[in-house]
Formats: sequence, C-alpha cells, structure tokens
Amino acid sequence: EAITTMLTPAKQETIVITAGGTREAIDPVRFIGNRSTGKMGMALANAALKAGYRVHLIVGQVEVAVPKSPHLIVERVETTRDMLTAVERAFTTATGLIMAAAVADYAPAEVATQKLKKQGDAGLTIQLQQNPDILATMGANKRADQWVVGFAAETNDLDTYATRKLMTKQADLIIGNDVTQVGAGFGTDTNIVTLYQNGQAPVRLAPATKAEVAAQIIQFIQQRF
Ligand code: CTP
Ligand code: CA
Repeated sequence: EAITTMLTPAKQETIVITAGGTREAIDPVRFIGNRSTGKMGMALANAALKAGYRVHLIVGQVEVAVPKSPHLIVERVETTRDMLTAVERAFTTATGLIMAAAVADYAPAEVATQKLKKQGDAGLTIQLQQNPDILATMGANKRADQWVVGFAAETNDLDTYATRKLMTKQADLIIGNDVTQVGAGFGTDTNIVTLYQNGQAPVRLAPATKAEVAAQIIQFIQQRF
C-alpha cells in the first residue's frame, strides 16, 4: 500500500518533454549542432514531476544532469528525425507535449560513410536539407484531448514571430523569449518569457530562474489545459 502510493503520481497524465539540442552528422566524426544546454527542458521536467505528472523526457545533447524519478522515462536521441520518431511514439499515450529542444533546422542531405578528406586547398560546400518540423507535425495530428506547447527564441519582433508560430504549428501555447535580453536564452540560469495563446493577450512573466519560470509554465498549463 505504501509502495503503491509512492509510485503513483497524483495524476496519471504523461507529458512528453524534449530537451537539449539535436545533432546532424556530416560524416562519422563531424556533426552540425547548436548551443542548447537543455537547462530549460530539464527545469520543465522537474517542475512537471513536482506537479504530479508522469514525464517522458526525450533528450538530445545536454550539459545538465537528467533528473531521476520513478515517474520519469528518459530516452536519448541524436538527430531531429530520431527525435520526431521518439516523440510520435511517446505522444500516443500522453496528454501533452512541450518542445523545449533546440531542433536543428537543417541536416546534411547526405551523410558521408567515411571521414571527409581535404581536397587540396579548395573549400567545402555541404548541401543541407530542411528537417521535419516536430511541433508542427504533432500540432497537426493531435487529438482533441491533447495539447502541444512550443518555444520561440527570437532576436527581434518576438510578438510577431511567436504569434505566427502559434498559428503555423497549431500550438496551444508558445513560450517566447527575446534572447538578446540579459538574463534570457542559451546557457543562462534565468529566463524572461512571454506566454502566447490564440485569442489571448500575451502573458509576460517576470524575470526569474529557469526553475521558477518552469514552475509557472507548468502551473499555467495545469490551469488552462
Ligand atoms: N521545432 C520543431 N521542429 C523543428 C524546428 C523547431 O519541433 N524542425 C520546435 C522547437 O522545438 C520550438 C518551436 O518549434 O518549440 C519553434 O522553434 P524555432 O526554431 O523558434 O522555429 P522554426 O519553426 O524553426 O523557425 P525559425 O528557426 O526560422 O525561427
Ligand atoms: Ca529553428
């Protein structure tokens, strides 16, 4: 009885959360990556667990520790395509998705099976092709009882771009942040975010630690969805 209680979260609902950056191989020793540390995604996973959700965490490249909990499933992926496959599978039994991962927009059109060698003094051109959009895919395929949340990290025109992403990706919520602001964005321990919902005035959260911001986002989700 005691053990059952301990292992049963308050809610039976699962949230799928992606964190960190995806990597796209160029050849066996090289890849295209980004500066994501996974801090915001990990903070959201911790906040969701604290709020009593089960969490299915799908992680790319991260520089922070992954939480441990009996209510947490952790899956590691490398590429954007791997992440899409993992998200599609996990989402079927989940109520929500939070795409906190920094997804590579492009991948090399072909991955060399052997290490690329220099060709004299000539430069190198790598042909890139656009990756699938995980959030938009899930937004288009979600059931009526499911919700999807994305981020919009912008350097300019945050309101315009965040609102546009809300529409084009059929997201229920976009968490926007202006990465040029001090105390926001990649690698920082704090964040300054604005919450965008269809037909609602943007909700600007006060600057706070990523842990505090994550707790407020989870609370917002709990209240609205
Ligand atoms: N995203 C995704 N799949 C992609 C690209 C982005 O799921 N291939 C998600 C991100 O995880 C984030 C949201 O979409 O939650 C917005 O990502 P962002 O990079 O800001 O948007 P893009 O659509 O890639 O547009 P751009 O980079 O041109 O601003
Ligand atoms: Ca992008």
